[in-house]
Amino acid sequence: TYVIAQPCVDLLDKACIEECPVDCIYEGDRMLYIHPDECVDCGACEPVCPVEAIYYEDDVPDEWKEYTKANVDFFNELGSPGGASKVGKVSADPAFVKALPPQAS
Ligand code: F3S
Ligand code: F3S
Repeated sequence: TYVIAQPCVDLLDKACIEECPVDCIYEGDRMLYIHPDECVDCGACEPVCPVEAIYYEDDVPDEWKEYTKANVDFFNELGSPGGASKVGKVSADPAFVKALPPQAS
């Protein structure tokens, strides 16, 4: 799977959503999250993010390792809806994301 990391926080550019063929990039309050089971590893989202927030799971920088788990935990309640567009924004940011200070854009 691919993982969205800290540069997305408070920016939510959403260019990635347009590229995903399986609609598996879901919106939280402060960032977006890739569904680890629904992502088919096509990689189309990674180059279009203007702030390089998206990484293949093995390539997530050490400083942002906790985002790998965040992209899992966001779906604890939501499960696997099989498509983000019909779900819309979900207020399920993990606690450490909620607690981040406002990120400068
Ligand atoms: Fe975020 Fe980049 Fe997508 S900022 S919403 S991961 S294009
Ligand atoms: Fe979609 Fe990116 Fe995965 S485009 S299928 S979330 S690698």
